[in-house]
Amino acid sequence: MKFTVNTPGATRQRTACAIVAIYSDGVLSDTAKALDKASGGMITGVINNRDIRGQAGETLFLTHTGKLPCKRILLVGLGTAGKLDQRGFRKAARAAFSALGKGGYANAISFLGLEAVSDADAYRKTRIAVELWHETSYRFTTMKSAPSPEASRLKSIGLACETGDKRKARLALKHATAIAGGVALARDLGNLPPNICTPDYLVKRAQAIGRTSKKLRVTALRAADLRKLRMGALLAVTQGSELPPRFIVLQYRGTAAKTKPVVLVGKGITFDSGGISIKPGAAMDEMKYDMCGGASVLGVMQAAAELDLPLNLVGIVPACENMPSGTATRPGDIVRTMSGQTVEILNTDAEGRLILCDALTYAQRFKPAVLIDIATLTGACLIALGRVRSGLLSNSDELADALLGAGQNAGDRAWRLPLDEEYGELLKSPFADVANIGGRDAGTITAAAFLARFVGKTSWAHLDIAGTAWVQGSNKGGTGRPVPLLMEYLLQSV
Ligand code: BES
Ligand code: MN
Ligand code: ZN
Repeated sequence: MKFTVNTPGATRQRTACAIVAIYSDGVLSDTAKALDKASGGMITGVINNRDIRGQAGETLFLTHTGKLPCKRILLVGLGTAGKLDQRGFRKAARAAFSALGKGGYANAISFLGLEAVSDADAYRKTRIAVELWHETSYRFTTMKSAPSPEASRLKSIGLACETGDKRKARLALKHATAIAGGVALARDLGNLPPNICTPDYLVKRAQAIGRTSKKLRVTALRAADLRKLRMGALLAVTQGSELPPRFIVLQYRGTAAKTKPVVLVGKGITFDSGGISIKPGAAMDEMKYDMCGGASVLGVMQAAAELDLPLNLVGIVPACENMPSGTATRPGDIVRTMSGQTVEILNTDAEGRLILCDALTYAQRFKPAVLIDIATLTGACLIALGRVRSGLLSNSDELADALLGAGQNAGDRAWRLPLDEEYGELLKSPFADVANIGGRDAGTITAAAFLARFVGKTSWAHLDIAGTAWVQGSNKGGTGRPVPLLMEYLLQSV
């Protein structure tokens, strides 16, 4: 898709489709007023007919636009005039772009960005529009033998903004394009089946990202390397699988070598059967998305390199399968982690924390300024927060606040859960230093409390994306979250 930043002037611009805002109770945006006047009352006509009311997210195509230079008008409701906020703007833009994508024309101009949004400036409105276009037009078709007939024919979208906002809008377009690319990559990886999206496959994709920038270095350790590093917890998870584990490290150097990096660690379980503590059969296929934390790390690395961000960033993706077999870890096994702490594995389905704890220990060698892990870690997080907000747990108020704010701005929200020491006591084991599960209570928190034992004094945050990385239902698939949150955080910190 080719996006351009245009100036206003709705009545003068030739386009196959002008996307135009209206509000509840027949209130017209300035653009709608101009087109209404030029067309002799076309828009007021349909409003008086009650074909559209202006509610947030309503859409209506007007054709037969007569002498107007736009062949069609896509009217979009933005709700009550004077009350438009980011949430309403997103809702309307999402509806507009899904309607637009179904049309068969080559180009369009959106005038929605000219509307005042209480908590969004021209930069933010452009970001939202471009990212939502990519979100709504995304299709996962690589596994189908025939190309999808519903692919949109749209080639270019103009984004109208005030003349003085052009520079801001162009910057937003650049940011949004890179972020949308990272989101699409993460969605693709989440959607790919587990027989294709294996640990080795993730390595190939990481290496492809590495080739996009001279500032990126990608390495991928193998089982023998992990044994040398004494990553006993990670090795315990992978030992039931026929597929070899890989441990992917992407280093992006965008500024002076002495500047401490942001280190991201993403869970890369390419299929989670539960292991010997096997999961029930229903919807087990969805456990192919248990690598979405890792996928989001790859998405962020790709986007950060594309934007040439002036910071140092390390992405770590421990990747393996969790399978039952005669060589699999048994409930009751005790293993020694890379940190030296021993873990009693009471449930082999609590495998994410086992691969992450060794990855977090490994991460310390980069002397992180901040350390953030991202994982589809607990079903309990789905129970607590559903699919709206990611779970956020942290040992640093400053980092937690920055991430919460970034999520809010990016429309990729998180919610902080507590991490009092008492929760860690639920992980006591009579036989080892710690057990890998706590019990039914506070499952998301005890998982994070387990991880906290491996980060020392480093400023650390954990994002549990079990609920947010995936949508269910007829539209099921990866969401690419929390790439927008993480990119927002990085953009804020440079
Ligand atoms: N990958 C799952 C968590 C998960 C569940 C992600 C549902 C997405 C949707 C994780 O490895 C897991 O199995 N966790 C267990 C932990 C339990 C055994 C303490 C869980 O949540 O049931
Ligand atoms: Mn599991
Ligand atoms: Zn898992």
